[in-house]
Amino acid sequence: MTIKTHTRREFLASVVASGATGLSGMSAFATSGTAARGSEPARLIPYGSAVRAGALATDMAYRQAIVANCDIIVPEGEMKWPDLHPARNKFDFEKADALVDFARQHKIEIRGHTLAWYGGMPDWTNEIASRADAEEELVGHIETVVSRYRGDIPSWDVVNEPLIDWPEDANSLRPSIWTRQLGPDYIPIALKTTARVDPTTRLVLNEYDIEYKGDRFAARRKALIQLLRSLRDRDVPLHAVGLQSHLFGDRALDRDALQAFLREIAALKLDVLITELDVIDYEFPADIGERDARVAAIARDYLEAVFEVVHPKALLTWGLTDRYTWVPTWFKRADGLPNRPLPLDAGLKPKPLFDVIEGFRRKFA
Ligand code: G3I
Repeated sequence: MTIKTHTRREFLASVVASGATGLSGMSAFATSGTAARGSEPARLIPYGSAVRAGALATDMAYRQAIVANCDIIVPEGEMKWPDLHPARNKFDFEKADALVDFARQHKIEIRGHTLAWYGGMPDWTNEIASRADAEEELVGHIETVVSRYRGDIPSWDVVNEPLIDWPEDANSLRPSIWTRQLGPDYIPIALKTTARVDPTTRLVLNEYDIEYKGDRFAARRKALIQLLRSLRDRDVPLHAVGLQSHLFGDRALDRDALQAFLREIAALKLDVLITELDVIDYEFPADIGERDARVAAIARDYLEAVFEVVHPKALLTWGLTDRYTWVPTWFKRADGLPNRPLPLDAGLKPKPLFDVIEGFRRKFA
């Protein structure tokens, strides 16, 4: 396929050379901190986005925006079971391979998402009828997928969303084919298998809904810490916690509890990644200026709380542009207006959220 006109590096160089501060000179890359120490350029916290292979293949402006802005990409669906493993004895790597090639071509890092999840499983997995079968399928899937991309994927969301909505403790795991047949053992099995197959990849446990005030969120933080501690106590390999960071305007950030939670993660010697940041705006005012300002303010408050305690190894949003976002699938606006949860608008112009993210990356570089 013939595509893009410049590489990310060239784009960034041209931005610096021209003194422009944003995507295609449209704005942004605003900084609130010092990006350079002496003559050495500072190493910013890597920014990345979830991507869609189909859109990358057909929408050249989107493709160019990804190349221009992302140090990291993560497939939104192409490395999940339904895409990779559509039938029991069938793997399909076409779309995942295309993304790995795209990342290599543009010297962008690619994260893997995800190996052990309750959600979005292909129908055939309902046929898994015994513990031995389940272990064979889970281990076999990880061996096949992780070995194929060994050396290409330096970080995997091995375990995604293990906890139920309102957990009592670390064993309150979401019902899935894995918990049905393997119980809580599915987590160490997945982590150990990934580590065995690619000893160099970083193993991430990815979770959501841990940042707010209220008993449910407190229960989630507590259960997650218990789970992480029990993995550590059993010498199960794990390098990082992914904070998905799907943020909501109608919830109150529990700054103190979030920071205490992050200190506990740091005490467990685990890294933190922000893996799926977006701001769900379905109940915000229609006015675009007001809405974008609220989205940016919510992200700013959250990132400030996080960055005061830990410096995430990476900061990814779940999509780069409002043109392609999962949000309306679940959180459509009552007024019918399109959602605006991401750093670039549907026309690929940077929004205030973009500047907020860029500011944190620079301030804490
Ligand atoms: O690919 C099929 C297509 O063949 C079919 O015709 C079409 C009809 O509905 O569905 C297509 O699959 C959809 C898939 O996205 C690809 O577009 C699924 O129905 C749909 O459920 C799936 O949604 C994804 C969801 O995870 C479930 O896998 C979202 O795009 C994706 O943004 C979302 O991502 C999750 C993260 O993995 C974990 N954290 C939360 C985040 C947001 O929900």
